[in-house]
Amino acid sequence: MYRTHNCGELRMDHVGQKVTLSGWVQIARNLGGLTFIDLRDRYGITQLAFNMDENSELCTQARKCGREFVIQATGVVKERSSKNANRPTGDVEIQVHELKLLNESIVPPFTIEDESDGGEELRLRYRYLDIRRNPVKDKLMFRHQVALETRKYLSQLGFLEIETPYLIKSTPEGARDFIVPSRMNSGQFYALPQSPQTFKQILMVAGMDKYFQIVRCFRDEDLRADRQPEFTQVDCEMSFVEVEDILQTFEGLVKSVYKSCLDIDLPELPRMNYDEAMESYGSDKPDLRFDLKFVELSKMKGNGFQLIDSADAIYGFVVKGKESSFSNKDINDLTEWVKRPQIGAKGLIYIKYGSEGIKSSIGKFYSDEQLTALSKSISAEKGDIVFILLGEKEKTLKQLGDLRLEVARRMDLIKTGDVKALWVLNFPLLEWNEEANRFFAMHHPFTSPLPEDLDKMNSTDRNTLASIRAAAYDLVINGSEIGGGSIRIHDRQIQARNFEILGFSKEEAEAQFGFLLGAFEYGAPPHGGIAFGLDRLCTIMQGGTSIRDYIAFPKNNMGRDVMIDAPSAIDEKQLKELNIKIG
Ligand code: AMO
Repeated sequence: MYRTHNCGELRMDHVGQKVTLSGWVQIARNLGGLTFIDLRDRYGITQLAFNMDENSELCTQARKCGREFVIQATGVVKERSSKNANRPTGDVEIQVHELKLLNESIVPPFTIEDESDGGEELRLRYRYLDIRRNPVKDKLMFRHQVALETRKYLSQLGFLEIETPYLIKSTPEGARDFIVPSRMNSGQFYALPQSPQTFKQILMVAGMDKYFQIVRCFRDEDLRADRQPEFTQVDCEMSFVEVEDILQTFEGLVKSVYKSCLDIDLPELPRMNYDEAMESYGSDKPDLRFDLKFVELSKMKGNGFQLIDSADAIYGFVVKGKESSFSNKDINDLTEWVKRPQIGAKGLIYIKYGSEGIKSSIGKFYSDEQLTALSKSISAEKGDIVFILLGEKEKTLKQLGDLRLEVARRMDLIKTGDVKALWVLNFPLLEWNEEANRFFAMHHPFTSPLPEDLDKMNSTDRNTLASIRAAAYDLVINGSEIGGGSIRIHDRQIQARNFEILGFSKEEAEAQFGFLLGAFEYGAPPHGGIAFGLDRLCTIMQGGTSIRDYIAFPKNNMGRDVMIDAPSAIDEKQLKELNIKIG
C-alpha cells in the first residue's frame, strides 16, 4: 500500500497513529540535528521530520531528497512544537521511521511555488510541473466543480447528456473549420464541429426533448485571452419552448452554479435589449460593474462648429468625481489611445467641469456658460469630466464603448469580486457585410426571427431585412459573453427562406444543410437552446483574465501546444495514404 492518508488530511485527531504518505518533495530543510521534508500531493502538504540522533541513516537519506523527488514515508503522527497556522496540516508532523525513494527528479525549470519564476511559455511547455502548483491545480478543481454542478442541475431537470460526433461536415458559415482528411474517402474531408448546433436540433426532431452536453468545440480563429481554438461548451437544447422558458431554465443554472461553487446569491438577472445595450454602452456585452452610461448629445449642434454640426452622431459619458484625476497629459494619452487604428476615432472631446471653472477641448467654440449648461443637462456636476466622441453612429458608439472600458480600467472603477450578470435580448437576425455584399446571420442561420418580425422575412428591401429582430439572447457577466442561444426555425420553408436571404442558392443550401431541411419535413417540434462557454464561465466566476488558466493543456497565442509540439509535419507515408500533396 503506497499510502494510508493523503498529504492534506492529517490533523491533531491523528496524533499517535502510524501512517504512510506518498508524494513529491516540495523542499527538504537540513537544520543540523533535524531534517524536515515538506511532502506534497494534490491535497496539501505535510511535514516529515527526521532526527539525526534517533536514526542517522534515515536522516542522511532524507537529506539527499531533492525537489520533486517522489517518496514514500511511514511514521507516527506527532504534535508539532512550532505550529504552522497557514497550513491545514500545520499542527502535526510525521516522525518518520521508514523512507522509500519511489522516483527521482531532475531540477525543474521553474519553482513549483504559488508565485513561480517561470514565464507562461516555459510553464506551458512543462505543463505537468505547472499543474503541480496550487494556482493552476485549484483552477482545474474549480472547473471540475462547475462542470459537476452543471451536470447535476440539468440532470435533475430531466436533461439527457448525449454525445454528438466530432468528425462532421464542413460548412462555410461562422468561423473557419479545422479540417480532417479522410483516408477511406480520398480527396474528402471531415470538419471538427464549431458547435454541435445542427445535431442538437436533430435530437429535438428525434424527440429527445431536453439535451445537454459538455462538449469540445473547435474554431480556427485568431486567438485572444478569451478564445482558444478548442474550447468547451455547456451545450443545451429544449423542445416546446419559448424565449422565456429558456431564460428561466438557464438563469436557474447560472444561479445554482454561483451558489454551489462560490456561495454567491445572484439576484434576478436584468434584461436589456440589444439596441439599448448598443445605445447606452456601445457594446452587446456591457460591463455593468460601473456606470458611465452614454448620453446622446445632438443638442450640441447649431453653434457654428462645423465638426459637430455635420456629425452623424454625438455621444458622451460623464465620469463622476474624476475631473482632477485627468491631467493634460492623461487626456493627451487617452486621445492618442482612441486614435489608434484598433479604435479608429478621429479625436476626443472633453469637458472638465472643475470647481475653479470649466475647461474643454472645444472651449474655442462654446462659451463657459454653454458648456456649463450642457454639462448640467447631462447631470454632470462640479468635479466631473465628460468625454465625447462623434462621427458615424454605429462606429461612434463602438468607439465610445471601448473608451468607456478603458476609462474604467484607468480610473480603477471596477470593484474586485463584484458580479454583474444580465441577459441581452432581441439581437438583429442579420448583419450586412459590406465586403461580401451580403447578409450574414448575426447568431447562426438556424435562429428564428421574433414572431412579430416574421413577415419581414418576405421582404427584399435591405433595410427591412436588417430590421428583423431575432429570438436570440446572450448571457453577459462582467462584460464578457458567457453564453448565447436562440429559438430555432423549425419550419422548412422559413429555414429555406433564411438560407436564401443569406445568399445560399437552393442547391448550396441543399448540399450543406439538406439533412436538417430533410429532418424538418418529419415533424420538427418548436425548439430552442443555448450554449455556455465553460472555460469563460469558470474564468469570469473567479475573476480571472485568461481562459488558458482553466484549461489543463491550452494552446499558446499561435495556436500551438508547446508541450507536445503540435501542430507538426507528418511523414510522407501518411501524406500519401491521405492522397495529400504539400506545396
Ligand atoms: P456561440 O458561438 O455564441 O453559440 O458560442 C457559445 C459560447 O461559447 C463560448 N465561445 C468560446 N469560448 C472560448 N473560445 C472560443 N473560441 C469561443 N467561441 C465561443 C462563448 C459563447 O458565448 N451553437 C451556438 C449556441 C446556440 O445557439 O445554442 C453557439 O455555438 O462563451
